[in-house]
Amino acid sequence: MMRKIKTALDLGGFNKGDNLLEVGCAKGVYTFEFAKMGFDMTGQDLSVKNIEVAKERAEAMNNNNVNFIVGDAEDLSTFSDNTFDGVTLFSALRYVPNPQNAINEIFRVLKKGKSAVVDFVGERMPVINEFAAIVMCEGRK
Ligand SMILES: C[S@@+](CC[C@H](N)C(=O)[O-])C[C@H]1O[C@@H](n2cnc3c(N)ncnc32)[C@H](O)[C@@H]1O
Repeated sequence: MMRKIKTALDLGGFNKGDNLLEVGCAKGVYTFEFAKMGFDMTGQDLSVKNIEVAKERAEAMNNNNVNFIVGDAEDLSTFSDNTFDGVTLFSALRYVPNPQNAINEIFRVLKKGKSAVVDFVGERMPVINEFAAIVMCEGRK
């Protein structure tokens, strides 16, 4: 996990204090690690249950620099254009019915010139060619 986080930080060029969106954050395992490192985190996941658990953990940890929200990667309309210094999406795009919609939304909420780091199940996923950003292929770990 820490290796993936370090790789994401390197690839994304994220800096301490940046506000990052983690799409498909599940119960926030990665989100909390980023928060501990000084990032201002928003975790988003489709699962109400996952987000409930993540919120409970954040409360128990008295963690101020992390927020969680239920939502669909294909519709990030909760967030304005150009909101985030970076976006991560780990092991989740394969569950999204129309990944291009998610990618469009990720680029919309990213500030201009900022990066998203997305990992894919494999290099042959068709959408990989359409995603003009930084990609970590799980197969290369
Ligand atoms: C395999 S888990 C990965 C969780 C975490 N990112 C990690 O790497 O440990 C996939 C997550 O994607 C979420 N997910 C699936 N479809 C989604 C969607 N359309 N929008 C947001 N999250 C979604 C699931 O609820 C689940 O928590």
